[in-house]
Amino acid sequence: MEMMKIWFASSEVDPFIKTGGLADVAGSLPVALRKMGIDIRVVMPKYGQIAAKYTDRMEFLGSVEVDLTWRRQYCGIFRLVENGVTCYFLDNEYYFHRDWYYGQSDDGERFTFFCRAILDTLPKIGFQPDIIHLNDWQTGLTGLFLDAHYRQFRDDGFFRNIHTVFTIHNLRYQGVFSRDMMDSVLGLSWTYFNPNGIEHNGAVSFMKAGLNFSTRITTVSKTYAQEIQSEYFGENLSGTINRRAADLRGIVNGIDYELNNPEGDARLFTPFSATDLSGKHANKAALQKQMHLPAKDDIPLVGIISRLVDQKGFDLVARVLEEILSYDVQIIILGTGDKQYEDLFRSAHHAHPAKVSARIRYDALLAQRIYAACDFFLMPSRFEPCGLSQLFSMRYGTVPVVRETGGLKDTVIAYNAVTGEGTGFTFANYNAHEMKDALLRGMAVFADKPAWERLVRTCMLQDFSWEHAAREYMALYQEILDHSNPGTDAPAQPIHANPVGISEPNESVEPARSGNGMEESR
Ligand code: GLC
Repeated sequence: MEMMKIWFASSEVDPFIKTGGLADVAGSLPVALRKMGIDIRVVMPKYGQIAAKYTDRMEFLGSVEVDLTWRRQYCGIFRLVENGVTCYFLDNEYYFHRDWYYGQSDDGERFTFFCRAILDTLPKIGFQPDIIHLNDWQTGLTGLFLDAHYRQFRDDGFFRNIHTVFTIHNLRYQGVFSRDMMDSVLGLSWTYFNPNGIEHNGAVSFMKAGLNFSTRITTVSKTYAQEIQSEYFGENLSGTINRRAADLRGIVNGIDYELNNPEGDARLFTPFSATDLSGKHANKAALQKQMHLPAKDDIPLVGIISRLVDQKGFDLVARVLEEILSYDVQIIILGTGDKQYEDLFRSAHHAHPAKVSARIRYDALLAQRIYAACDFFLMPSRFEPCGLSQLFSMRYGTVPVVRETGGLKDTVIAYNAVTGEGTGFTFANYNAHEMKDALLRGMAVFADKPAWERLVRTCMLQDFSWEHAAREYMALYQEILDHSNPGTDAPAQPIHANPVGISEPNESVEPARSGNGMEESR
């Protein structure tokens, strides 16, 4: 049987460039799929920030010209094999050598270039995928372009049977730009400018195009797949999501269990395992010292690693931080984001130097040490498509305290004090005192050493490796291929569920949000 061929496109891929969980997924899911025998290749922009240790090893394959209406833009193609997966880097210094990846005034044009280049490079590198797997708004126009300019329009039929999967990692970031782009950059017929096409509240929406023009849609947990069909979580797109509900599937993310292995992780102070937790205590003492907190093992140590944005529930933390700090507890915070939350944690650090230690920065090494050393990991998100931090935490025996939403609900099982079952402390309503109560319930178990150690071990023995999720993606790909008409020249079915021209009322008069320039502005 011929190998299935997948072209996996993402605006960030770990270890090359990472601002959030998208990069973790794009860096590890293809590795798992490759191991299962899929010919999956990854494509991303060649940003100026990619470290020399990678660029030095890249091979230049040639270039293509990308059509943006009246401009033809150079696109260099570089290749590098990393962790067994072949990655392609699309080079245009004008678009991708900037001080940050997102939040530039011409993001619409930059990522239009990316969306077209994802297609234009394929004939050049001689790779004809069965499926293009797209991720988040930055890749959202690719399916539309396939429909408008490629599938039926190349004499050699190269693109005719290519399908798309569009994965939503976060519906909040939508890539919404002025309608002026239609003529000046996109070069699309205005028949696409309707709510079943690219139009959203009078503007151009990359996310909407992604939803409307992909063969299948996925998101990163089963609960989030349900939630985004409601107005509360739907970010003004619940109508579109509902219309495509039959083609939507939730697949919970995994994490790389080899890179994140407490028994062999060189980033930790000391390795440890579920059978011997002494190293976990040693990590705690060393981190307390590093963070200038009293090195006491019997004080519960709470970690927070996050983009400091509203999504992550920091208004709840702000509301009850002082109340929590009236207990014997220590809190370590790592992350950057909105100024109000950066200031909140900076001032708590100054006011309670023996209890709070805040590092307002991005620091991958320190993050790993926090996952390993803490007793609790606090993640009270307002919404959470999947969340990876709770998975890293459990892997390192750090017990999550989470709100029951999205992927947090799907991955953390509420602790039952009677049976000792469960993997964390959870609360349902978006309420600061419910969050505090969940933490206090956790602290009560922490004080009961045998029960606590059992819980820590249970967390460590969970399996959130990519194994399961990769199989689900593989089954989805297979399902799409089984649906198309193998062996015939007939166009693939279904290309998209919504013929252009049938209009649907707009869902709200409020403009959808797009990025704002910080690292969360995906
Ligand atoms: C986004 C989501 C997060 C998810 C990640 C990877 O960052 O906010 O919940 O885990 O993407 O899919």
